[in-house]
Amino acid sequence: MRSLRTGLSLASLVTGLALLLGAPPAQAADLPLRDLADAKNKVIGTAVAGSKLTGTYAEIAAREFNAVTPENAMKWGSVEPTRGTYNWAEADRIVDFAEANGQQVRGHTLVWHSQNPSWLANGAWTAAELRQLMNSHIATTMGRYQGRLATWDVVNEAFNEDGTYRQSLWYNGLGTDYIAEALTAARAADPSAKLYINDYNVEGVNAKSTAMYNLVRSLKERGVPIDGVGLQAHLILGQVPATLQQNIQRFADLGVDVAITELDIRMTLPADSAKLAQQAADYRQVLNACVAVPRCVGATVWGFGDADSWVPSTFPGQGAATPYDEGYAPKPAYHAIAEALGGTTTPPTGACTATYSVVNQWNSGFTGQVRIACDGASLSSWKANWTYGAGQQVTQAWNATCTQSGTAVSCSNASYNGTVPDGGSVTFGFNASWTGSNPVPTVTLG
Ligand code: G3I
Repeated sequence: MRSLRTGLSLASLVTGLALLLGAPPAQAADLPLRDLADAKNKVIGTAVAGSKLTGTYAEIAAREFNAVTPENAMKWGSVEPTRGTYNWAEADRIVDFAEANGQQVRGHTLVWHSQNPSWLANGAWTAAELRQLMNSHIATTMGRYQGRLATWDVVNEAFNEDGTYRQSLWYNGLGTDYIAEALTAARAADPSAKLYINDYNVEGVNAKSTAMYNLVRSLKERGVPIDGVGLQAHLILGQVPATLQQNIQRFADLGVDVAITELDIRMTLPADSAKLAQQAADYRQVLNACVAVPRCVGATVWGFGDADSWVPSTFPGQGAATPYDEGYAPKPAYHAIAEALGGTTTPPTGACTATYSVVNQWNSGFTGQVRIACDGASLSSWKANWTYGAGQQVTQAWNATCTQSGTAVSCSNASYNGTVPDGGSVTFGFNASWTGSNPVPTVTLG
């Protein structure tokens, strides 16, 4: 604690302490998401970075999810940055973590236009060389983890928004059949893995998802191995496609599984309680659509915490896209996922907090204030209580009625400021005496 024997205005030294009122009911009985998902025979997964798998991050990843996807560790640029020189350390770490925690692994991703090593992306290859490179990458990468990965995103992001094929290294070099070739090589490399094609903006019925649908239908007709379709689901707040469930169902009707593979729902920052409530509704809608279709195997979130999400660096000013906040506290979206998976938790309804601060101080007295603010909750009357630890004595108060008995101070609302609406605040002030020191107390609302 700073010494406050200055006689100066202490606005710059103000310290505040806050305590929650109306904290959510005990959550001890709540089941982790993975237990809820297991009971429904669904996947609830998260993308992870191997380097982060310690501490709170590892605890949540292990406790809440029954599947993991390496966010970057298995991409070609990560595993073979120099031709012929492999780096499996982070990928191995993730697979080992998953096995230690009884989790499935979704391999991500083998044949993609992005995050390829520069030696590959910048090379001038004949079709025969490209075919050889692709097939041997699939054999090497899938072969390393043969029998250990449940699923692979074999081909990623093959389409443009209008449903034409993306002009990638693979398409330009090998034509449309690179997809069938990659899937065939993948089946040979690990016959036990489910083989997917994966894309974004294919969650609703649209030109791109219809191109994917037509591709899957033709692959099935030709007997090319294809087990599933991944809908990435990098979504925008309030914009879950109305045709999501219908789209999942039409793929399922082709005889393939469907997975939500990279779910996140971004918003314009800062987040507030209304946006977080909308986000929870959006997550619920996505999970509900998957739960409703038996061949939808489940959903993977693209990072479970806002601090780890790719969104803010790619979309400046946007973020808060995941089910946990930056401090790994579950957001309303977490509870919505739990409920969609059959959990019965009532999500926390928000809280009101009281913040005490010293706004001015002189040699024998000081002026203090307490601000009561509500977010996701409200009050119709209030009482702020604290205990003075160094002999301070309240002498006068405004915008509240304060009494002090010994060291205990209790301040009640005035007739005109008992109501604190959701998103609103009330402040009251007081003068008090002090000697020696003037430590800041903890205020509780009651
Ligand atoms: O690890 C390096 C670090 O050493 C370096 O200092 C830093 C400087 O830029 O870059 C770091 O690498 C970054 C990597 O993420 C790890 O954080 C790359 O630059 C960055 O490009 C890379 O972004 C990833 C992106 O794919 C690449 O396209 C995101 O994390 C990852 O979430 C994102 O995931 C994709 C899916 O694979 C496919 N679907 C879309 C999804 C979102 O873009």
